[in-house]
Amino acid sequence: MSPLPIRFGVLGTGRITRRLVADLQSTPGATVSAIASRCAHRARWAADSHGIAAAVEGYERLLSRDDVDAVYIALPPSLHHEWTLAACAAGKHILCEKPVALSAREVSEMLDAANRADVRFLDATAWLHHERTFQFRQWLRTATPQPDTALAAAKPDELFADESAAASESLGFRVGPLRHVSAAVSFLNPFQNGDHRLDRSLGGGALLDLGWYAAGMIRFATGDLPKRVYATAVMRDGIDVRVSATMRFADETTATLSCGFDTSTRKWCEIAGAEASIVCDDFTRPWADKPARSWVHEASGKVHTFTPPSELDGLTNSGGITAPVSRPSRCHQEREMISRLIGWIRTDASADVEKPWQQFHDQALQTQTLLDTIAAAIE
Ligand SMILES: NC(=O)c1ccc[n+]([C@@H]2O[C@H](COP(=O)([O-])OP(=O)(O)OC[C@H]3O[C@@H](n4cnc5c(N)ncnc54)[C@H](OP(=O)(O)O)[C@@H]3O)[C@@H](O)[C@H]2O)c1
Repeated sequence: MSPLPIRFGVLGTGRITRRLVADLQSTPGATVSAIASRCAHRARWAADSHGIAAAVEGYERLLSRDDVDAVYIALPPSLHHEWTLAACAAGKHILCEKPVALSAREVSEMLDAANRADVRFLDATAWLHHERTFQFRQWLRTATPQPDTALAAAKPDELFADESAAASESLGFRVGPLRHVSAAVSFLNPFQNGDHRLDRSLGGGALLDLGWYAAGMIRFATGDLPKRVYATAVMRDGIDVRVSATMRFADETTATLSCGFDTSTRKWCEIAGAEASIVCDDFTRPWADKPARSWVHEASGKVHTFTPPSELDGLTNSGGITAPVSRPSRCHQEREMISRLIGWIRTDASADVEKPWQQFHDQALQTQTLLDTIAAAIE
């Protein structure tokens, strides 16, 4: 008999809930039982729009409901810390929007609270759950870090260790020692009226909002935090609208980060090793009309084009040339993310097994630490 679904309650009725609530409702093993707003009429409107049974006025009241097992925190970043602690106190599992909080200190307190309350916590950084990201991880295994470096020390703690087990020898290329990572994420004026992104007290600014993705990619690829960071920001009305940072790691790997609210859409990364570099132009989310893909450029000039296994039937082969057909990515990263959290909720944490969420917690905490360091460097 299949287990009962995990019942999610949603905190907030903003823009992201339009997408994520549908993703929760369409993930096997999840249902959405309630949605809460500061205003009763907005809660009612959101519940009716999404077909959710309970409309709740006030976030605290949602946390006290017996028909909620887990919460999805879809509030401005400045409220993530407060409501994560409250959810932990109420014994609810948590899916929390990015950026996890305003500082690494807050993230640390949130993770400690979740561990103490024995509830599962996952940040909603969906690209980490895409099948393509597992491929990156597999390729990064061919980066052969030098012994005694911070990178080598960080590698045993890698994400997805259990899922990217395919033999790297079969790849036909090696990334070689890691040299440089660059990541750029921007959206031109991604604002609505009164947007929290333009309000510093709510956790606004491009660094927290979009730098979260770029910093996350840098931490994902290096498995480490830099020893030195240089950064600059273009400010408008007290908000960082564009940030650029360059950094250097203990093993001499370097990285650059760019993010902004005043630049055309970019969501790309390059992970450059001595022997090959991985290039992806949409790592945060595949372009709407294209299957997920990425490229490996070898030092010789040879280029490999990759699509994850689930996309392969979307390729046409004409005259020996394989080309992706025009259709969206099949791997639904948000559902993968939600399924992973549900799997953890059903895991007995007291069992003497490695806790799979630890790797994601480390990734979240170090991403926020890197953002703190960049913010300090800007100042
Ligand atoms: N993962 C992704 O792809 C993705 C994409 C977009 C956004 N996000 C993240 O999701 C979170 C929410 O973003 P959003 O774009 O949905 O924000 P939004 O449209 O501004 O909605 C935020 C919601 O929070 C509630 N809220 C409570 N106190 C508030 C306050 N003082 N000011 C404004 N709103 C307040 C409001 O709901 P009620 O008034 O109804 O309570 C509001 O609708 C952010 O952390 C953002 O970075 C993630």
